Amino acid sequence: MMAPAPGQIAVRHVGELKGSIDVPGAKNAVLKLMVATILADGTYELSNVPQIADVAIMSDLLEAIGITTDVPAPGRLRMTNTGDLVPIAPYEQVERIRASINVLGPLLTRCGHVRLSMPGGDDFGARPIDLHVAGLEAMGAVFKFSHGDVEASADRLHGADVTFSFPSVGATENVLTAAVFADGVTSIDNAAREPEVIDLCEMLVSMGADISGVGSSRLVVRGVPRGSLRAVAHRTVPDRIQAATYRAALGVAGGELTIREARPDHMHNVLARFRDMGMEIEPIPDGVHAVAASRLRSIDVQTLPYPGIATDYKPLMITMLSVAEGVGIVTENLYPGRFRYIEELMRLGADVRTNGHHAVVRGVPRLSGAPVKAHDIRAGAAMVVAGLAAEGETVISGVDHIDRGYDDLVGRLRSVGADITRC
Ligand code: EPZ
Repeated sequence: MMAPAPGQIAVRHVGELKGSIDVPGAKNAVLKLMVATILADGTYELSNVPQIADVAIMSDLLEAIGITTDVPAPGRLRMTNTGDLVPIAPYEQVERIRASINVLGPLLTRCGHVRLSMPGGDDFGARPIDLHVAGLEAMGAVFKFSHGDVEASADRLHGADVTFSFPSVGATENVLTAAVFADGVTSIDNAAREPEVIDLCEMLVSMGADISGVGSSRLVVRGVPRGSLRAVAHRTVPDRIQAATYRAALGVAGGELTIREARPDHMHNVLARFRDMGMEIEPIPDGVHAVAASRLRSIDVQTLPYPGIATDYKPLMITMLSVAEGVGIVTENLYPGRFRYIEELMRLGADVRTNGHHAVVRGVPRLSGAPVKAHDIRAGAAMVVAGLAAEGETVISGVDHIDRGYDDLVGRLRSVGADITRC
């Protein structure tokens, strides 16, 4: 096997995967838990923290705001808020991750004023923040946009009835955290119900916030006085997207895996779709047991907000369908522009045609290895999965994208028999 160049991963299909993999904590939960520490002084302990680049980037952002972080042990994060906060989120940090927008609500409700640069993150085309702004404006915030910055101010936010036209994860989290100190009651209708949003609610409640309807599409937050919350210890919810990545790898390579820590109750729909593709999947006390004994079968899939099939699963599912028996139609309902990795899959011999927010995938018996690029976090992971289904060698560049959201993907796959190396 050719040694991969720095920043590259090389993968070869060598046969079935066998063994057990532990799923770490969820990126899309831990980043918001870290931001919630803005709300109250004290020292927080987060556990089940994934070793990913986005956690380091968020730590840098929070350090710039005035919250210190240290790592007492792998998988744990200690964060200290002395109350000496600077409500300004600089471009350098903000442009690197989308979750930086989540400092808007907590800084506004805690400090009465915030300025931050428009957020960056994975390039899926337009990613507006109009729902965040409309929700906070309904609570009395005044916004100003200039020179690429968002500025918001309000002496004290007041309760409001907020109804989202779309159950945005980020907008739900921003309005939710802002409402914690608002004067009165805030209701959020058509709120996002993702397990990561529930995890944030649970941490806020353990800090002393008054939130009801957790897990439903209607959240009700009764404002409490500033200074009445306390720092806590919290365990991050497992990462359902990373769990799905290992099942996708199994689906294309064949074999048998135990995926520990994965929460079947968070993945009901996607597990059902994997079964429709021919995989055997059983919940077990501490995770999921999965078997892929034969070639996958094609299915049609559409992405939807939770509890629908998450858009983050889609690159994995299209990769599975590219070697499945039959034709599958995949419809993207959240990010119509989230198809950039298709050209990379086609370099590997996949037969995929896109039309607007639909992709038609005709399964081929085997892909053929080639050099490909990771365009974003999930697209990068899908390239690794594709490499496990390809003749010869697949070399993936741009793996810093993968590092942003995956905790030792290469090591975990290697531990169950994959022929994969990185430099
Ligand atoms: C979160 O992004 C996740 N990121 C994304 O995961 C995930 O794809 C997405 O939720 C959907 O599940 C984090 O949690 C850090 P949204 P977020 O606001 O909050 C539109 C990954 O790979 N919208 O729910 O940015 C928006 O354009 C990442 O881990 C508005 O129109 O997603 C999109 O079409 C990628 N106006 C839809 O809603 C707004 O003000 C969903 O966005 C806000 C959103």
